Amino acid sequence: MAEDSREQGHETLSNLLHETRRFPPPAELAADANVGEDAYAAAEADRLGFWEEQAARLHWDTPWNQVLEWNPPYAKWFTGGRINAAVNCLDRHVDAGRGDRVAYHWEGEPGDTRTITYAQLKDMVCQASNALLELGVAKGDRVAIYMPMIPETVVAMLACARIGAVHMVVFGGFSVDALGTRLDDSQAKVVVTADGGYRRGKASALKPAVDDAVRDRPAVEHVLVVRRTGQDVAWDEGRDVWWHDAVDRQSTEHTPEAHDAEHPLYIMYTSGTTAKPKGILHTTGGYLTQVSYTHWAVFDLKADTDVFWTAADIGWVTGHSYIVYGPLSNGATSVMYEGTPDTPHQGRFWEIVQKYGVTIAYMAPTAIRTFMKWGEEIPARFDLSSLRVLGSVGEPINPEAYMWYRKNIGGDRVPVVDTWWQTETGAVMVSPMPGVSAAKPGAAMRPLPGIVVDVVDDQGEPVPNGGGGFIVVREPWPSMLRGIWGDPERYEKTYWSRFDGLYFPGDGAKRDEDGDIWLLGRVDDVMLVSGHNISTTEVESALVAHPKVAEAAVVGATDPVTGQAIVCFVILRGEAGDGGDDLVKELRDHVGASLGPIAKPRQIMVVQELPKTRSGKIMRRLLRDVAENRQLGDVSTLTDSTVMDAISAKLPDSRGED
Ligand code: WT7
Repeated sequence: MAEDSREQGHETLSNLLHETRRFPPPAELAADANVGEDAYAAAEADRLGFWEEQAARLHWDTPWNQVLEWNPPYAKWFTGGRINAAVNCLDRHVDAGRGDRVAYHWEGEPGDTRTITYAQLKDMVCQASNALLELGVAKGDRVAIYMPMIPETVVAMLACARIGAVHMVVFGGFSVDALGTRLDDSQAKVVVTADGGYRRGKASALKPAVDDAVRDRPAVEHVLVVRRTGQDVAWDEGRDVWWHDAVDRQSTEHTPEAHDAEHPLYIMYTSGTTAKPKGILHTTGGYLTQVSYTHWAVFDLKADTDVFWTAADIGWVTGHSYIVYGPLSNGATSVMYEGTPDTPHQGRFWEIVQKYGVTIAYMAPTAIRTFMKWGEEIPARFDLSSLRVLGSVGEPINPEAYMWYRKNIGGDRVPVVDTWWQTETGAVMVSPMPGVSAAKPGAAMRPLPGIVVDVVDDQGEPVPNGGGGFIVVREPWPSMLRGIWGDPERYEKTYWSRFDGLYFPGDGAKRDEDGDIWLLGRVDDVMLVSGHNISTTEVESALVAHPKVAEAAVVGATDPVTGQAIVCFVILRGEAGDGGDDLVKELRDHVGASLGPIAKPRQIMVVQELPKTRSGKIMRRLLRDVAENRQLGDVSTLTDSTVMDAISAKLPDSRGED
């Protein structure tokens, strides 16, 4: 959907889902928590002072002379300061005698493993830094990284950070075209890739896509190739270099330079559904400050004892911030897993938790709903007692999914933090704190200390408790995007033009009676039914709360009577059978009973799969096409394009059932 289609305002069907469940922090966790209620007060009294304190958790070669230079909408943080992100992630811990600590327990999909300590990772990063320099990469140059989830991916990122090159990771599941547009836009000089990686039990190739993408792109001077699967690869002698030839012979010594706090660290492209992807730019000092602080605060990280696992791909910002920069800057031990959750069996995630004694796990609601569908007897087979904090990210978590996660993974004792943020915000912005908040299932609760977030109406006025509208950020924050690569106008228009002086992330939100924040999904996904704005998220949550429903996607389809009508696509839980007219009626009545008659869906279709982007977000745009009987739009970012054929095929006989 085009960016400017976020125009219309909406008050939502707020507070129709009355949530009375509260989960206060476990006493032992609260007693020893990294962050208490006092942090909020301190940050409110002196926001910039609070962020200076957090910045001081890092090692700076030269301290900053000004905390914030704010020329709206452009921010510079910690100006005059000089810092090296890789040194903060590695050398600092090695120099402090923690070189033997495990940085990563890496688990390959086929079951091969590697254990990498901080000292080893530092050596690898120094070698890769020397190799990149030898290949002609200079400070400020862009380096594309198109890799599977292997340790060399992290090594390549940190080598860039160390020498001041700007990394641009492209998710390894993306197509040649997606890689090509990102190479054009960033003008990357080197591409780091692998022969292939393992996914769903087989070796999938990466190098051929790179060969295609760089063919007519002379800006790319070298392709550095890690051997992971041993597949045959085509080879261009002048251009291609094996990692084991170029990196392994290098010295493990590399003397780092400190970079300006505002030196670009990376570009991460967000895949707009129709528009050209936006190259979100993050810089060094402010990004590392907020990522490091939030990783420590939101997950209550105890670096000496915790085993932290973000089950996401490094190709997304979640991986950048909470597999790489957050955990490493805090000296944490992390798990990194190459593959999919159902290879070779549906208990793989829980087997990993048990094997490494994972204490903190962070994953997306789409994964959690998939686990619900597979059934609770699967996690029940594993010992998950090491867990002490669980996190959710990427979409609103339906209360039912939250409860399932808490009960079946967290043993009904582990706090779940629902963390709201975006590629653009760089780090978590709104979330419960595990040692402070009496969490509500499905609520992101309140902004973190030092973050000023509000919910406003169409006119930009704050809504009262119980009201709905748009989430906005009122004050600059350290890890905010510094712009869109090469396109300042688009930066201003996309984020700063909707409300004067406020950052607009594009999400709907509501404040409940206590003032706590609930996210309601992208504003583009709000429906207008008989003059009422209804959020797709609320209807989806009502459906998922039904015991027979595992997952639901809701869209507003044009309707001659009501303007838009609610059309739902549901996946049933394993034991619920194939559905049928009785079940469809039961579900419609259930939504009507939970949210009110206005929210009663016109149509409900039982499907086997839902169309999702590769980062797990439901592509409602395509479902809207189906619901309105239109030719399908662009399906190139779908994980599995056959899903839409199956859904379209079901359509004729399920129409007009009411
Ligand atoms: C969009 C950002 C945050 C890293 C991964 C996604 C949605 C994200 C939540 C949450 C409700 C959420 C928003 C946001 N989102 N987390 N906890 N509750 N919605 O990064 O691809 O940049 O997507 O994801 O709509 O704007 P992204």
